[in-house]
Amino acid sequence: MELIDGKATAAKIKEEIAAEVEQIVANGGKRPHLAAILVGHDGGSETYVKNKVLACEKCGFKSTLLRFEDDITEEQLLAEVDKLNKDADVDGFIVQLPLPKHISEQKVIEAIDYRKDVDGFHPINVGRMAIGLPCYISATPKGILELLRRYNVPTSGKKCVILGRSNIVGKPMAQLMMQKQYGDSTVTVCHSRSENLKKECLEADIIIAAIGRPDFVTADMVKEGATVIDVGTTRVPDATKKNGFRLNGDVKFDEVAPKCSFITPVPGGVGPMTICMLMMNTLSAGKKEFYK
Ligand code: GUN
Repeated sequence: MELIDGKATAAKIKEEIAAEVEQIVANGGKRPHLAAILVGHDGGSETYVKNKVLACEKCGFKSTLLRFEDDITEEQLLAEVDKLNKDADVDGFIVQLPLPKHISEQKVIEAIDYRKDVDGFHPINVGRMAIGLPCYISATPKGILELLRRYNVPTSGKKCVILGRSNIVGKPMAQLMMQKQYGDSTVTVCHSRSENLKKECLEADIIIAAIGRPDFVTADMVKEGATVIDVGTTRVPDATKKNGFRLNGDVKFDEVAPKCSFITPVPGGVGPMTICMLMMNTLSAGKKEFYK
């Protein structure tokens, strides 16, 4: 069994990005610039955005954080998005989600210029991803592809079962794993209504668990030698932790790991890769790699 170390991989990728940025700047190019809009004071969002700004520093990017109170109107927020769309110095930007109830997240996402949509949430990027065109791929599925590639996990022609059908993980993951240029796998998507879910899992060479149910995948669901990718990050109360909780994956790690060829831990697996992939997308934005 080989443990897939997302934390170490993410650190290495950020060093690679930083080296490329210094090369670009040394050659007279522009330092990539990521902007982030944060609305309100949600604890989780504050942490994410803080970590995104720190990651920008590690990569040698310029970053701008725009903060607004949660009474900002949808119209005002859309005007801020428009300003960033038109700001030639900003290569890419994100609007941290979730947004307050009175603002339509979908409307805001669709207002972002798809050429600056480094989250890869705009329907143009989602659609281009689905048909294999160059585009920003959202962070979690992109991070999983990067881990599979860097650990030389065989995927071509293999049976991949994806647990979960969310717009940000399950659906894009299925699209990417089936495509010849990425996973090139035979893909099955299972969800809360799937019959024979255990049987499907037992036949899988690769299981990608993204259903948000702690310890859902047990040893009796996993084939000997399978690769298991755990996307779960449910907060469960834990009195031994300083903040009172721990992150629990969708996989019962202790009993599943001995059966695996490769497995990701929680924490330290997929999680650290996500911000790192936002950095990769920002580098692509700076280089105008996908769109002029
Ligand atoms: N909230 C939780 N994850 C994300 C993400 O990847 N992007 C944005 N914009 N908001 C989030």
